[in-house]
Amino acid sequence: MLPSLVPGRAASKPFTCLASGKLAIIMIPMIPLDEVARLVLPTWAGEFDLRAFQGPSGGVYLLFLRGEVGDGRHLLTRLHSACLTGDALGSLRCECGPQLRLAMRRIAAEGRGALLYAPYHEGRGIGLIAKLKAYELQDLGHDTVEANRELGLPVDGRDYREAAQVLVRAGVRGVRLLTNNPDKASALEAGGIAVEEVVPLQTAPHARNLGYLETKRQRLGHLAPGGAALASAEVAVHDPWTESSNGQGHALDVSPLLGEVRRSAERPYVVLKYAQTLDGRIATASGDARWISGVPERRVSHAMRAACDAVMVGIGTVLRDDPRLTVRMVPGASPIRVILDSKLRVPPHAGVLDSDAVTIVLTTARSSPARREALRERRVRVEVVQEGPDGVDLREGLGRLAELGIRSLLVEGGARVITSLLRERAVDRVVVALAPLLLGKGTEAVGDLGVAEVIHALRLVNPTRHAAGTDLLIAADLDGQAPRRG
Ligand SMILES: NC(=O)c1ccc[n+]([C@@H]2O[C@H](COP(=O)([O-])OP(=O)(O)OC[C@H]3O[C@@H](n4cnc5c(N)ncnc54)[C@H](OP(=O)(O)O)[C@@H]3O)[C@@H](O)[C@H]2O)c1
Repeated sequence: MLPSLVPGRAASKPFTCLASGKLAIIMIPMIPLDEVARLVLPTWAGEFDLRAFQGPSGGVYLLFLRGEVGDGRHLLTRLHSACLTGDALGSLRCECGPQLRLAMRRIAAEGRGALLYAPYHEGRGIGLIAKLKAYELQDLGHDTVEANRELGLPVDGRDYREAAQVLVRAGVRGVRLLTNNPDKASALEAGGIAVEEVVPLQTAPHARNLGYLETKRQRLGHLAPGGAALASAEVAVHDPWTESSNGQGHALDVSPLLGEVRRSAERPYVVLKYAQTLDGRIATASGDARWISGVPERRVSHAMRAACDAVMVGIGTVLRDDPRLTVRMVPGASPIRVILDSKLRVPPHAGVLDSDAVTIVLTTARSSPARREALRERRVRVEVVQEGPDGVDLREGLGRLAELGIRSLLVEGGARVITSLLRERAVDRVVVALAPLLLGKGTEAVGDLGVAEVIHALRLVNPTRHAAGTDLLIAADLDGQAPRRG
C-alpha cells in the first residue's frame, strides 16, 4: 500500500490544474522512492539517460530521459504501462508494442522528453498471470472489462502516485502527455504534474485488436486509439494528406474497408485490394504501376497491411515492383508476407526476403529443392503444395496458411493472382481504389472469369465508398451465393 496523505510528510505543491487552467495549491503526498540505478541505455531510438526507481509498493519504474529536463515544463512524456506480450513479444491482442515504439520515436524526434516505463502496471495493474487468464475469458466472448470483473479483479488496478512521484523527483513539472487515456492525465495531475497538453498516441488497429480498442474507447473513455476513421466519400472532399506529403506518422482506422473478419478453418478471410485507373488498369502495358494511386490511398494500403495477419502477392509483382510489403506509412506492425511462386523465381535480394518481417513462400514440386533449402537458410518459410491451373493450388495454399494460424489475408495483386482468386471464389471482400487516371492499353485488373453474360457476373454486396485524397475507394463483400442464372 502506498502512504496516504500524512500532514507531517506532505509537501505543498502549486501546479496548474488542467480542468480549470487556474493555479491551485494542493497537498501532494511525498512517497519515499529509492533510486536504484542510473546509467545510459543505448536503444534502437538512440541513447537515453535511464534512472530506475523503486517505490514502497515494490514497483519498479524506469525513467528514460532524452535531452535536458531544464525548467521541467512542456516535456513530451509517455507513461507506459508494461505489456510483456505486446511490448516485447509482438502480441497483436493489444496496441502496446506499436504505441511504445511510436512514443520512443516521437521523443527521439523532439530531442527532449521522458518515457516512464512501469513494469508494475502490467495488464492494467492486475499482473501478467491475471492478464493471461483474462485473455482466456476474452476468447470465450467476454470483453476486456467483463473479463477482469469475472476474475474478481479491478478493470484498471493501476495506481499512478509513485509514477507521478518519479517525475517529480526528476524535476518534471509539466508534461505534454502522450496518451489516449484520460485517466492517466488526471492521475498525473493529482500527483503534482501539470498536464499541459494531451497528445494522442494512436496506432493503426489490427483485425485482432479491433474489439479491444473499441471497448477501450466505449467503456474506458479512451480517445480513438485506432486513429482517424476513414472518411466517407460523401464528406471528404479535402484531405490534409496532400500528394506532396510523405504521409507518415498518423494512424488510420480502416476497419470499414476490412469488413467483418469471419473465421474459417479452411482458409483465411481474404481481402482483395488493388488500385486501378478509371479505365480498369492496374499497370501500364510495360507493367509500370508506380504510382496509380496517390499518397493518401497508399497510406490506406499500409493501414490495411497493419490490420491483417498476412499480405500476399504473386511472384510477377515481386519481379516487377520489388515491394517490401511492410507497414511504413502508418504506425503499426508489419504482417507476415506471403509469395505465390510455384518455381521459386524469387531473386535472392528481393525486398520481400529482407529481415523486416516474416516471409512465407508457397511453392510447388516444380521448384528446385536446393533453392528451397537456400531460402530456408535465409529464415524464409517454404511450403510446398500441389500444383493448380495457375501455379500454386489456391485451395491447398490458403488451407496451409490457415493451418499456420493466419486468419486474415490481404491480397495486393497482381493481375494473375487477382484473377485466379476470383475464379476460385476464394475472396470474401474486394477493395478497389479508383484513381482519376486513364492509361489506355495496359494491364487489366481482372482477366477472364468465364463470364459470358452480365447476369453471371460476380456480385458484390454491401458496398461502401470512402475518399483518400483524389482517389475513391469502394469496398464490398463478394456475394457467397451462386451466380444468378437467367
Ligand atoms: N495497381 C495495383 O494495385 C497493383 C498491385 C500489384 C501489382 N500490380 C502490377 O501487376 C503486375 C503484375 O501482375 P502479374 O499478373 O504479372 O503477376 P502476379 O499476379 O503478381 O503474379 C503472377 C505469378 O504468380 C505465380 N502464381 C503462383 N500461383 C499462382 C496462382 N494460383 N494464381 C496466379 N498466379 C500464381 C505465377 O508464376 P509462377 O508460375 O512462376 O509461379 C504467376 O505468373 C505488375 O505490373 C504490377 O506492377 C499492380
